Amino acid sequence: MSVQAPAGTDRPVTTATFRARKAAGQRIAMITAYDVSSARLVDAAGVDAILVGDSLGMTVLGHLSTLQVTMDDMLRATAAVVRGVQRALVIADMPFMSYQVSAEDALRNAAAFMVAGAGAVKLEGGAHMADTVRRLVDAGIPVMGHLGLTPQSVNQLGGYKVQGKDVAAASKLLDDCRALQEAGAFAIVLECIPAELAALASAELVIPTIGIGAGAGCDGEVQVYTDLLGLGGDFTPRHAKRYAELGAAVTAAVAAYADDVRRGAFPGEAQTTHADPAVMDELRATHSDSACGKAGE
Ligand code: KIV
Repeated sequence: MSVQAPAGTDRPVTTATFRARKAAGQRIAMITAYDVSSARLVDAAGVDAILVGDSLGMTVLGHLSTLQVTMDDMLRATAAVVRGVQRALVIADMPFMSYQVSAEDALRNAAAFMVAGAGAVKLEGGAHMADTVRRLVDAGIPVMGHLGLTPQSVNQLGGYKVQGKDVAAASKLLDDCRALQEAGAFAIVLECIPAELAALASAELVIPTIGIGAGAGCDGEVQVYTDLLGLGGDFTPRHAKRYAELGAAVTAAVAAYADDVRRGAFPGEAQTTHADPAVMDELRATHSDSACGKAGE
């Protein structure tokens, strides 16, 4: 008898792979995805991990920040991504206020992501989140931390600015890294901090660091799908590099389609199915009688 593994339990990359990669000095490639089509594409490209980021608030839903993103938004996106992935570890980002209120709340919400097929969750914050991280890890839920520029705290940080620039802030970040590792986090995202600080943290920690705007000294890198592919309009964050101009390609393709439709060039013969002539003859005979009769009455 063959047993079908539940969604998310049979993918080759796991949190254990993360640790093994760091031990072997092999870097980890991670990218965001938000739906089944982006998930299929990035998984086929061979990335190690896919983050269903709450950046979906901006990239997909058109909000100005991640603060408006809800559990429903994230659960639907996570389930869609999971359906498109065969290899990579899927990590679900816990949205604003889904884990800050209480550890019990965090556990219930993190569990919902695991039921949706995620292999791990990510949450923002350092030492003050350690008890919550421990609670989730004790319940069997792998947790990725997120330090530095934590977008859910943008109002407290005074904008999307590089963090950890002075000794006090840098030393707090190192303490936060230690606290998360101690609490059982399997990896930590370091966002927008000086490269030297990220390298110092990466050298000290046993768990891998995943950088974004943190230089090349982290154990891996994460980037936002739309930033890399030119799908986010004209703006590209300094930490991103555009590997393709898909936005321009999509606009040109859709403009060509609209032009074909208006010129009567699409659909063409290749996209058309024809009826059996006998069926059409009978249909015309039947309908022309009754239709003409009615019109003439
Ligand atoms: O939501 C997101 O995309 C993220 C990455 C920027 C790390 O948290």
